[in-house]
Amino acid sequence: MPAKGKTVKKASNKEVSKKKATRVITITNNKGGSTKTAVCLNLAGEFARRGLKVLIVDLDMKSCCTYYMTGTKLFKKSIFNVLASDGVISLLDICVPPKNKELWGSVLIAPCTSNIRNLSVSVEALAIENPSFLLEKAIEDTNKYFDIILIDTAGDILTLEATNALVASTDYIIATDTSKLSRLGIPETRVVADEITKKLNKNLRFLGTVLGRYNKPNVESKQASLKALDGPQYGMIGGQKKKVDIKFLSDHIVPDDSKVEEAQEKGVATYQLDPSSPAARAYKKLVDHILLGV
Ligand SMILES: Nc1ncnc2c1ncn2[C@@H]1O[C@H](COP(=O)(O)OP(=O)(O)O)[C@@H](O)[C@H]1O
Ligand SMILES: [Mg+2]
Repeated sequence: MPAKGKTVKKASNKEVSKKKATRVITITNNKGGSTKTAVCLNLAGEFARRGLKVLIVDLDMKSCCTYYMTGTKLFKKSIFNVLASDGVISLLDICVPPKNKELWGSVLIAPCTSNIRNLSVSVEALAIENPSFLLEKAIEDTNKYFDIILIDTAGDILTLEATNALVASTDYIIATDTSKLSRLGIPETRVVADEITKKLNKNLRFLGTVLGRYNKPNVESKQASLKALDGPQYGMIGGQKKKVDIKFLSDHIVPDDSKVEEAQEKGVATYQLDPSSPAARAYKKLVDHILLGV
């Protein structure tokens, strides 16, 4: 762990291409309300059910995931302090168990507080040299404690938090609902993530786009909304327009299911509320795909 005041060393190519033991999966989309937190919570629940040690890192200043899991947004120390202290405060110092600990098993959460919105200002004031690597450094110290780290992000890909998430990750998933704006966020996210893969994290893998909520369409709109998610698309962000493959995981669509929202509100995963619900079954299949490639 770096000493107080020490800046994060620039990662060498060797460090950047190092294989990570723990899978670190960011859930992202350049759009809020696109099912990112639901996907994160339900993947966490399903990984935990299989006996894996899971850490959820909340990087959204709205603290939704933190609130669902713990029942509060008030923390003296949060992921902000880990990142803004440049390694003085470790991830393990801030991790807390969920309020329904008996259901979540060994799952822990690194909570987020609203002061994360000051992250870039804070790291600038501290003259931290490579602010994109802060989360990666923090995770390096905790790798041995977790099999899977899931990072829940805000609906804005052009932030220091989002960059930190993708730099620290082995994989990322784009979560979407069927709304036009969420779908537009997919190629925007891909364009930025591609840049990060090229420049900062050669090991970053795109697992695919998950339709986390497939809501009540008629037959025509079902075909239209699924077709719109298929094949290459154009992403335009920050002045760049690029053709990207959004890798739609069409075999892993999560149906619209009231149990998802009910579970989220109760601070549990959908399977913990109702293991036979359609959404719980879809998440089970998605985790098979992530872990086994099926
Ligand atoms: N499969 C689903 N069925 C029904 N509601 C869902 C489903 N997935 C997500 N939701 C609901 O959609 C809303 C937005 O999802 P959320 O995960 O909070 O989005 P984000 O994290 O991207 O802002 C929440 O109220 C959530 O409970
Ligand atoms: Mg969210």
